[in-house]
Amino acid sequence: MQPPSNRQSDIELANLRRQHQLILNSVVEGIYGLDLQGNVTFVNPAAASIIGWEMKALIGKSMHAVLHHSHSDGTHYPREKCPIYAAFQDGTVRKVDDEVFWRKDGTSFPVEYISTPMHDETGQLVGSVVTFRDISQRKLNESILQRANEELEQRVQERTSELIKANEQLKELNQARSRFVSMVCHEFRNPLNNIAFSVSSLKRYERQLSNLQKIEYLSDVEINIERMTQMTDDLLVIGKIETEKIEIEPKNLDLVKFCQELVAEFQETHLNHQIQFHSDRQQLEIEIDYRLLRSILINILANSVRYSQKDRLIQFNLSLSSDYIILSIEDRGMGISPQDLHNIFEPFYRGKNVSNIPGTGLGLNIVKRFSNLLGSKIDIISQVNQGTKVNIQIPH
Ligand SMILES: Nc1ncnc2c1ncn2[C@@H]1O[C@H](COP(=O)(O)OP(=O)(O)OP(=O)(O)O)[C@@H](O)[C@H]1O
Ligand SMILES: [Mg+2]
Repeated sequence: MQPPSNRQSDIELANLRRQHQLILNSVVEGIYGLDLQGNVTFVNPAAASIIGWEMKALIGKSMHAVLHHSHSDGTHYPREKCPIYAAFQDGTVRKVDDEVFWRKDGTSFPVEYISTPMHDETGQLVGSVVTFRDISQRKLNESILQRANEELEQRVQERTSELIKANEQLKELNQARSRFVSMVCHEFRNPLNNIAFSVSSLKRYERQLSNLQKIEYLSDVEINIERMTQMTDDLLVIGKIETEKIEIEPKNLDLVKFCQELVAEFQETHLNHQIQFHSDRQQLEIEIDYRLLRSILINILANSVRYSQKDRLIQFNLSLSSDYIILSIEDRGMGISPQDLHNIFEPFYRGKNVSNIPGTGLGLNIVKRFSNLLGSKIDIISQVNQGTKVNIQIPH
């Protein structure tokens, strides 16, 4: 028979064991103990169930061989390199969350584990306790979050570069606008100065001037007013295009008839030049905004007349290619130099050879803008003192 005190301590020990057992049984983390050889000394139900083993079957087994034998890519994981093993070699705690454990069925799962060295009452290292949990869900959430972050980052980058681009375009547009405004002011100053000069001469020399001289001054005023009116009208058109106030209204028309009528009408007010129209076809139905087309053709015809001597023939041709209708207007006039040709569509730009032929340099700019609105292309071929040919390609 044992003395009462020993019995008491046995009971206490048994209670303690039961309590430990209860704790081990109730936690959701897997927990197992290893001896110094790395063999299982105890294992809780959660550990066995996470890796798909029977609890009993694990006791005495090398746990490294059971659940830690390979890396996530399937390559061999030598036991000597395993942190769990290292924990009871050097007696320090290891916490790892970037490895996998393997189930009995050959599948693996991402794991987080802590290997804590175990000592006996004398302080002797006797093995380790490993606590682990399956962190598949956490890793999945992390990867979803990471993907979402990357997508967000990508979108932010795209949006930022779009904004930078839009900002640059806006800056360029603003610069172009202020350049345009100063050009307009400059162009208006000339005729205004001329008018001011004529008016002040008329005032100052009223008595000395003959009637003929006075009429000359007055007609100079008239010419300059006309120039400013023309410029104002052109600027209004450009303003309308820029603010997209011009609505394109395509309508069906017979292009051959349209050109013939336009030439006849134009010829009436330009009797000094002969305009010859030729078309490959008798009739050509197209859908187009005739107001824009009319303005384009009138501007080009007006240039042909303005920049060639009278009696020089102007040829206006209509032909068809597989994709385009080509309208070409060719004169035998003063031509445009290669340098001028380069800038010819810029507002207020005029060739160096125009001398005193009047003009504002806005016509071709409007032609270009209108032609863009119609989806057509304009190109000019020219040779100084030989002539100029303007081609308009209208998609068909
Ligand atoms: N057929 C042409 N022959 C020679 N030069 C031309 C011809 N067409 C245009 N040009 C040159 O191109 C310049 C720009 O032409 P644009 O029609 O834009 O302006 P403009 O004729 O000077 O004035 P406007 O605004 O009244 O038309 C002209 O000043 C001229 O130097
Ligand atoms: Mg012109």
